[in-house]
Amino acid sequence: MGEWVYIKDIAAYEGKQVTIKGWLYNSTDKGKVQFLLLRDGTGVVQGVVSRKDVSSQVFSDAQHLTQESSVIVTGQVRADKRAPGGYELLVNNLQTVQLTQDYPITPKEHGIAFLMENRHLWLRSSRQHAILRIRAEVVKAIRDWLDSHGFVNVDTPILTPSSCEDSTTLFGTDYFGEQAYLTQSGQLYNEATIGAFGKVYCFGPTFRAEKSKTRRHLTEFWMVEPEMAYVDLEGCMEVEEQFVSYIVQTVLQNRAVELEALDRDTSRLEKVVPPFPRITYDEAVELLNKKGLAFEWGNDFGAPHETVIGESFEKPVFIHHYPTAVKAFYMEEDPSRPEVCLSVDLLAAEGYGEIIGGGQRTASYELLERRIKEHNLPRQAYEWYLDLRRYGSVPHSGFGLGVERTVTWICRIHHIRETIAFPRMLDRIYP
Ligand code: 4AD
Ligand code: MG
Repeated sequence: MGEWVYIKDIAAYEGKQVTIKGWLYNSTDKGKVQFLLLRDGTGVVQGVVSRKDVSSQVFSDAQHLTQESSVIVTGQVRADKRAPGGYELLVNNLQTVQLTQDYPITPKEHGIAFLMENRHLWLRSSRQHAILRIRAEVVKAIRDWLDSHGFVNVDTPILTPSSCEDSTTLFGTDYFGEQAYLTQSGQLYNEATIGAFGKVYCFGPTFRAEKSKTRRHLTEFWMVEPEMAYVDLEGCMEVEEQFVSYIVQTVLQNRAVELEALDRDTSRLEKVVPPFPRITYDEAVELLNKKGLAFEWGNDFGAPHETVIGESFEKPVFIHHYPTAVKAFYMEEDPSRPEVCLSVDLLAAEGYGEIIGGGQRTASYELLERRIKEHNLPRQAYEWYLDLRRYGSVPHSGFGLGVERTVTWICRIHHIRETIAFPRMLDRIYP
C-alpha cells in the first residue's frame, strides 16, 4: 500500500506509490485500458488501469465502477503532460468503498431547477467546486486584510429587537413572547463596539425577506462589516478600495486554476488596484441621462442603472452623496446640503452592480433622534443606539461588503445562487 496523499500534493510523489481516497468522477473504457477520473476534494487525477498490470478482479471492479462511487485507489505517480493536472496514476489496486447506483447528475446537461433540487450533489461538479473554492479564498482574504490592518473582529447578534435597513424586509420570529427579527446588518452594534475598540468588523450571515426574484438577491447572505471611529467619508472610500483590491489580487494569485476552470478572463481583474473612480450621485444621474436612460433625480438606482454606470468604468466605481431620502436613517447629512447624505456605494466592474453599501454615520444626537421619528422607528428599541451619541460621540464611518455579490463578480457568473453552498431565495429553502 502507498501512503495516503491528497491529489493537490501528488506532484511531490512522482515515481512513488501512493493511495488516493475519493470518488469516481468519470471513466472511459478502452478495452485493455480504463481511464478513471478520480477526485478527492482537492483536485482531479486520471487513474490508468491496464489489464496487464492488475489482477482480473481489480480490472473487473474498475470496469463496474459507476459515477460517484467511492473508491480507494493505489498506484504509481507518473508525469504526463496530456493528463489533467500533469500527472496520472498507474493503478495497481482498487477498493470500492461504496458502489453508487443511478447518480442523478450525469455529464449531460441538466436544467437549473433540477440542479437546484439536487444542490447537495451538484456541489461535487467541477464548476461548483471552483466557485466555492474561490468563495473560501475571498473569505480568507477578507479576514487576513482586516486582521492585519488593526480591525478587531467583534461579532454581532443574529437575533435582534429592531431593524437596521428597510423594515419591510425583516424576517420576524417569536422570542419567548417578544417580537424579534433575524439581523439585516450588524452595523448598529458595530457603532457600539468602535467605542471600545476603535476599528472593528463583524462577519456573518444576514437576512432580508426580499420579495424580488432577481439574480442578485438572496434572502440569507454573508456580509462583512468594518466600522471605524474618527474616519470620514473620504477615509472610508480609501479603506474600501484597498480592501477590495486586496481581495481580488489574492484570488488572482491563489485561485488561478479555479478561475481558469470558469473560463474567467482575468485581464479586467488585474486592473482592480487603487484608486477607484469616485462620482457623486448627481454625476451618476447625468451619466445615465447622457446614455439615454431617463432617470429622475431623487430615485434610487435599480439593477439596469447600476449595470450601465458600472460598465462606464474600467474599475469598480464609488457613487457618493445619495439623496438622504433614499438611504437608511443613520446616514450623516451633508452639512452644506442636507438633501444629500454622506453615503457611498461601490459598484463592481463589468456591470455587476453594488457590492458595498456604507458611508459616514450621524454623529449628532438631535439629528439621529429626528431621523428615528421621521422613519417611524420605535424609539424604545433604539435607546441604546442613541446612547452612543450621548457618551463620546465621534465622526465615524463603515460599510458592508456582500460576499456572494463579490464572488459572483470575481467569477463573472450569471446568477448569485451558485456562490453559496445552499442558497436561500424567495422560492427556495430546500435542500
Ligand atoms: O447596502 P446594504 O443594505 O448596507 C447595509 O446593510 C449596511 N448596514 C452595511 C454597513 O454599512 N455596515 O448591504 C450591504 C451589501 C450590499 O452592497 C450587497 O453586496 C449585500 O450587502 N446585499 C445583498 N447580497 C445578496 N442578497 C441580498 N438580498 C443583499 N442585500 C444586500
Ligand atoms: Mg445598499
